[in-house]
Amino acid sequence: PAPQVAEPVPQDALAAARAEAASCRACPLWAPATQTVFGAGPVDAPVMFVGEQPGDQEDLDGRPFVGPAGKMFDRAAQEAGLERARAYVTNAVKHFKFVPRGKRRIHQSPAVAEIRACRPWLMRELELVRPKLVVAMGATAAQAVFGKAMPVGKNRGRLLALEDGRQALITVHPSYLLRLPDAAAQAEEYARFVEDLKLARPFLA
Ligand code: URA
Repeated sequence: PAPQVAEPVPQDALAAARAEAASCRACPLWAPATQTVFGAGPVDAPVMFVGEQPGDQEDLDGRPFVGPAGKMFDRAAQEAGLERARAYVTNAVKHFKFVPRGKRRIHQSPAVAEIRACRPWLMRELELVRPKLVVAMGATAAQAVFGKAMPVGKNRGRLLALEDGRQALITVHPSYLLRLPDAAAQAEEYARFVEDLKLARPFLA
């Protein structure tokens, strides 16, 4: 009889995917970046948050959403009554895309080809974590989660069904709030972001 090969437990499979992603060469973004920034959080998380790509600080740190956008996300999530530690947090694209300008590295939006090249990692994370709700923050995340363009303005703020039956929520990216020039608009958009995030609360209860 053939030897029985045990399926790896999801936690080990996730660790294996993370290790494999560390040497991913599926698109050119790996070369100038410091490291692959894979998702983080419990393997049995009921909610998965998806951002765009690591920023400058995440690229250096190795974990998602630890820089200014992460602080904004943490604040809004807390205000919405969500415990970030119970969620799995990741990005559509797992390398920082930037252009150097003097000593600084300026963020560049990922191209559709890069989102596509990185999508198998997100699919692996979804397969292993199997969240009940996937929250796509911003257009890049929405594109990766749905596998097609999903305009944020038209689709945000309500529960949507994914093809696999899972539920999804689209909202803005926290960096969008940081880029708004005036305080009033920022306060208003921040409040809307918090309202959107509140839809995730029953999934974490
Ligand atoms: N912006 C993102 O989309 N993801 C991060 O991890 C950090 C900033």
